[in-house]
Amino acid sequence: MIEVADRLHSVEEYYFSRKLKEVNLLIASGKPVINLGIGSPDLQPPQKVVEALTEGLLSPNAHKYQSYQGLPELRQAISGFYKTHYDVNLSPNTEVLPLMGSKEGIMHISMAYLNKGDEVLIPNPGYPTYQSVTKLMEAKPVFYELDAANNWQPDFEDLERLDLTKVKLMWVNYPHMPTGTQPSASLFEELVAFAKKHNILVINDNPYSFILNDNPASILNVEGAKDVCLELNSLSKTFNMAGWRVGMVVGDNKYINDILKVKSNMDSGMFYGIQKGAIEALKCSSMWFATLNNVYRERRDLVWKLAEALNCTYDENATGLFVWAKLPLHIKAEEYIDLILKEKSIFLTPGTIFGSQGEGYIRFSLCAQTEDLHEAIRRVSS
Ligand SMILES: Cc1ncc(COP(=O)(O)O)c(C=O)c1O
Repeated sequence: MIEVADRLHSVEEYYFSRKLKEVNLLIASGKPVINLGIGSPDLQPPQKVVEALTEGLLSPNAHKYQSYQGLPELRQAISGFYKTHYDVNLSPNTEVLPLMGSKEGIMHISMAYLNKGDEVLIPNPGYPTYQSVTKLMEAKPVFYELDAANNWQPDFEDLERLDLTKVKLMWVNYPHMPTGTQPSASLFEELVAFAKKHNILVINDNPYSFILNDNPASILNVEGAKDVCLELNSLSKTFNMAGWRVGMVVGDNKYINDILKVKSNMDSGMFYGIQKGAIEALKCSSMWFATLNNVYRERRDLVWKLAEALNCTYDENATGLFVWAKLPLHIKAEEYIDLILKEKSIFLTPGTIFGSQGEGYIRFSLCAQTEDLHEAIRRVSS
């Protein structure tokens, strides 16, 4: 057998890829598992999005290779979306690059900027991909701790105490996953100042700003941010299009060109029909967001009840697609979720998969129907 590259020893199979095999075995053996683990929206995309995809299929150009930079109308729609919702001006020709999901952007950005041995600031708790991609690049993750006492915001005094000489990138993600915390009023400005002072590229990964949140915010709204910041965004959660794989990276033309250099060597454009659907999604009116959030609000009320039935506490001001809940003292997250899976057939995510700061917490997904949530409450209350 052929030996894998050394870099592959630095990462493990993604937690959900592993754990869902176990969950699926339980389901196959007849267990009625309620899955509140992964954040994969179960609701439908807007109808006009599906129609645009279907129509797109009939275009004579649909089956050709597509532009590496996406259709001009898609870049225009992304630019319009940023202006409408974040009050950020972006040139559709030079400051926007459509991606196949924001997750691939994490890899492309890392490939564009990291050399072996470079260091990367990564939130703990945070999305696990920042760490695994950094390791695949043979760069070094340097974790900055977030905690409830500081409302899950970076502590700049702590950051300044670090040796930052080798740090090239910093990942931030507000609204924050898994905690649902909003950026404080001054956070983005402080991040831009920090990035400029230390010559670090800060990337805000921003896929959750429209879920149960009335104040979508972009780091690019800060004066001068484009010199040192990029933003990733996604249609996965905002428009229930996770399986379509549409995201974007936006920022200064110099950075976009660097990333395009990587991306154009890796894929050959996004399917035409998907781009046509994405354009329609990005043009949705505020009615779409209101309807979507009515559903999530009702589900979140039930998840709060479920969390209470499990003696957990949570922050009512948190936003996003998840409820992040604190376990009673001394209970270990992974042991607890295994117990709940075994005894109640409910699958939850242990906070520890997001880093050591997630110990003592569990995460509930809102991607489940109200009937399932009622059933989950019944099971834990009986
Ligand atoms: C913080 C964060 N960033 C990025 C992603 C990836 O989203 P996409 O579907 O756009 O690749 C996720 C998905 O769960 C996420 O939670």
